[in-house]
Amino acid sequence: MSTGIRGEYEAQGVELYYATSGATYRNPHETAVRAISAEATAAWRPDLGAVLDLACGSGEATLVLRELGAVSIDGIDPYTGEAYRARTGNRAEPLSFEDIACGALCGRHYTLIVCSFAMHLIAESWLPALLAQLGQIAGQMLIITPHKRPEIGSETGWEMIGEIRRERLRARLYGCRGQEERT
Ligand SMILES: C[S@@+](CC[C@H](N)C(=O)[O-])C[C@H]1O[C@@H](n2cnc3c(N)ncnc32)[C@H](O)[C@@H]1O
Repeated sequence: MSTGIRGEYEAQGVELYYATSGATYRNPHETAVRAISAEATAAWRPDLGAVLDLACGSGEATLVLRELGAVSIDGIDPYTGEAYRARTGNRAEPLSFEDIACGALCGRHYTLIVCSFAMHLIAESWLPALLAQLGQIAGQMLIITPHKRPEIGSETGWEMIGEIRRERLRARLYGCRGQEERT
């Protein structure tokens, strides 16, 4: 994450920043996102059959996962629909983490959720409910983050399968215990 975007978060707050600038959002670290996504996919071979790109921005993860073989990717982001459509040709559903924590994706099923540079933005108080809902819809989740956060402990039902560090980024693959028990 650039200090530029961090500075905007501090000056305006996350919501106002993305509400006003989401249409033109681009991740300045996209090259690194692409490299660590490719490394994670090669190392862990996640099932790319039905992917959810959560907080999809302008399609940074969608575009690289397409190149790596994913054919069905749903993008979700409350603020960057225009930027996502411009780069991927697809619509992003305008749902927030909080909407999802309240059950907005109930009944869906994905083989993999990817969330790049974003899950640290949710207030910690919302994280358990979000993770519980995500555990209802997918068995694996790939988090790409420039931070230690989000901190996802096994009490959430998600267990870390592995972590790759590349420069300042981390890719973490989680599996959901509940999903394994249900299938
Ligand atoms: C740093 S960008 C990351 C975008 C993209 N995944 C990437 O790798 O570049 C953070 C994303 O989180 C989204 N976002 C901000 N607040 C959100 C919220 N409450 N719920 C869901 N997404 C949110 C923003 O619209 C933005 O696309």
